[in-house]
Amino acid sequence: MKKKAFIYGCAQLGIQIAWHISEDYDFLGFIDTDPRKHTANGGGYINIDGKNYTVYHPDILKNMQFDKIFIGSEVDIYIKQIKNILFNYGIKENSIDMSLTFIPYYARLNFIKLLSLEFENKKIKGSVAELGVFRGETAKEINKFFKNDVFYLLDTFEGFDIRDCKNEKEQGLSKANIGDFSNTSLDYVKSKMLYVDNCRFVKGYFPETSNQIPNKEVFKFVNIDVDLYQPILAGLEFFYPRMVDEGVILIHDYFHPYYTGSKKAVDEFCLKYNLEFFPIGDAFSVTLIKNKKSA
Ligand SMILES: C[S@@+](CC[C@H](N)C(=O)[O-])C[C@H]1O[C@@H](n2cnc3c(N)ncnc32)[C@H](O)[C@@H]1O
Repeated sequence: MKKKAFIYGCAQLGIQIAWHISEDYDFLGFIDTDPRKHTANGGGYINIDGKNYTVYHPDILKNMQFDKIFIGSEVDIYIKQIKNILFNYGIKENSIDMSLTFIPYYARLNFIKLLSLEFENKKIKGSVAELGVFRGETAKEINKFFKNDVFYLLDTFEGFDIRDCKNEKEQGLSKANIGDFSNTSLDYVKSKMLYVDNCRFVKGYFPETSNQIPNKEVFKFVNIDVDLYQPILAGLEFFYPRMVDEGVILIHDYFHPYYTGSKKAVDEFCLKYNLEFFPIGDAFSVTLIKNKKSA
């Protein structure tokens, strides 16, 4: 008989874990902390290969037998929160499975690391940037991989802005809330950077803050990870013309089931400029290469 499993986290990472375990486990459904996502609250079902799965409140753990619970979030503070919730339900550490949790994270980091080596080999010059830094988890790696390059870190450092949240709601793109991702600060991120002298912190609402980037600046790598339609499109419009030849923009959340503005922004931008983009294998992101136009 197959072992029974839940997945905690029903966004793209959770869905991707479901693709991989559904052969080996009797997959019981998703659990999520966010009440907006619960099927019982109108959050809908998650369809995987033609089958609908329920998104449950963690209380389900009191009522159903299971062998394992996979963690479908790669964000440090959310993992801590999830584990605390599970421990409060009396679940033991050995029932919590994190073997698939960080595969997309490392796939993305490998992509960025290998890109930095390629740029070194090809002697491609330029600055690097991350639009959407949050607590600097990816930024600290970018700073490390591109240790000789100027690195712009752009964020409100206070979470989503009301203007973007309002637009998401009006266009039915996501249920983004003001204050989501506010658990951070510029000083906290700064303290994590190994090569802080290369860092240029640009705090505030993008694209308003884009005037803090010198006009002559050019980029070889930009990571856009702001989740929402308006700042993603604005990021593409701002950075793409400033990319060096063969420069690479990575855009997170293209495949995200809830933040659908990323796909909309990338699709619109690429249609407008006749550009091609490719998935990078981390289950979330797509990449755009400057001057690699479609046939
Ligand atoms: C998913 S988090 C970034 C995660 C980060 N790249 C990482 O790997 O840990 C999204 C971030 O985008 C920022 N953000 C969203 N809209 C923004 C805007 N219009 N201007 C500046 N920052 C914004 C939020 O404050 C939040 O910190």
